[in-house]
Amino acid sequence: MMKSVSSTSMLFLGLAAALAPSDACKFQARDDTCYGKDLKERYFYLDSNFTNLNHGSFGAVARPVRQQQREYFFEEEAQPDTWFRKRYYELLGASRAKIARYIKANESDVVLVENASSAVNSVLRSMNFQRGDKVLRLSTAYGMVVHTLDYLVETAGIEVIVANVTFPVTDPIKIVEVVQTALIEYPEVKLCIFSHISSFPAMIEPLSEMVRIIHERSPSSLILIDGAHAPGILPDLDVPFYKVDFYLGNCHKWLYAPKGTAFLWVSPSQQLERFPEPTVISSTGRQDFIGRYGYTGTRDYTGFAALPAALDFRDFLGGDEQIYSYCHNLSVSAGRFLATSWGTDLLVPEEMSGFMVNVILPSRNETAVTAMQQNLNSSYGIYIVVGAVKVNRKWNESNMEVKYFEDTLYVTRLSAQVYLEQDDFRPLAHLVPELLRQGRKELKAALDA
Ligand SMILES: Cc1ncc(COP(=O)(O)O)c(C=O)c1O
Repeated sequence: MMKSVSSTSMLFLGLAAALAPSDACKFQARDDTCYGKDLKERYFYLDSNFTNLNHGSFGAVARPVRQQQREYFFEEEAQPDTWFRKRYYELLGASRAKIARYIKANESDVVLVENASSAVNSVLRSMNFQRGDKVLRLSTAYGMVVHTLDYLVETAGIEVIVANVTFPVTDPIKIVEVVQTALIEYPEVKLCIFSHISSFPAMIEPLSEMVRIIHERSPSSLILIDGAHAPGILPDLDVPFYKVDFYLGNCHKWLYAPKGTAFLWVSPSQQLERFPEPTVISSTGRQDFIGRYGYTGTRDYTGFAALPAALDFRDFLGGDEQIYSYCHNLSVSAGRFLATSWGTDLLVPEEMSGFMVNVILPSRNETAVTAMQQNLNSSYGIYIVVGAVKVNRKWNESNMEVKYFEDTLYVTRLSAQVYLEQDDFRPLAHLVPELLRQGRKELKAALDA
């Protein structure tokens, strides 16, 4: 059995050591369908023999949304010219209006794009960088952001400053501090790019405080927020409130929209004649901000058209607050229960975990962890995400002079969703240690052979 990462992080575990009986039916959709497996059967396409504990990567479209999308697909195929020249633009306008209302923004500042990657690439790769311009990111930035910045290092000669987030994170203020330290050293940054909710480990970052520090220390810096996970997790998302320059969010992750549906919000002061440009410049020409993002070549735009149906589905589920209450509590109680069962800990405080909880696995053996993850999927139909996280550990807590050393822990990021319930997480308590033991045995046998 593994020791806790630190005594302070044990605080995150609270008191619960057992999962309460499923309370899925305290939460119901408007037609009285209980959250959990009933909702899964009636309203999602997920295989009934499959437990998706990784909603965070690819989301799940709801059946009514997909059905609406299919109707648009038939309209499109029935009369392509009418669809592409007229009908699509009417539907796109309605979708932009509805998502703008959802994020409390002006419709004129919001465009739809295929995904978060496209939005980030669009802004970064059309920005007028000069050689030597500095861009600040956190070490928790998503791989796509890291790769896009690397590309700009090679092609535009920018310099990337990485502010390092040390795990375990005990308090959101720690993240604000690393941003502040970096800005004291590099006040002249041209752009700061941060996630609103990081991917792995998953963590709600203290956006308001980070933005406040940037405005204070580097007032001329532009701010781009990768909010890929925020819509659908954070209730009452108010994008203009944050006073950033660019904010993007996926609708296909947590909003139940079809895959290939995301938004990009750009502050009016940054909507310029030649910037930002979409990743594809199409036959309709460069136009104004709204116009140039409206059409990026012939492809399937029915997902964009079905976005209002996804937001209606959320109302049908009871709305953001109810979804948040169910999913956050489910993720936290499942995380506590598993950490206690495995004798480990949570990596990130509960209040920073949204719908994705990071639980330290009871193993330090990468091969055993990978085998366990694959085996869970192939033999038990349960998909979990696992990964390595570098943590700072105290060398000797009893010593007056506290020293730290870097260590690697393996962590699983578990997603809660309205179609899941306590019973979906419970089997991991025994399966994970069992499969890890099996993996270690197989590895030893292979080494001995
Ligand atoms: C923080 C973050 N940003 C961006 C992305 C990219 O999203 P997409 O694949 O929809 O472009 C992800 C995907 O998981 C993510 O976690």
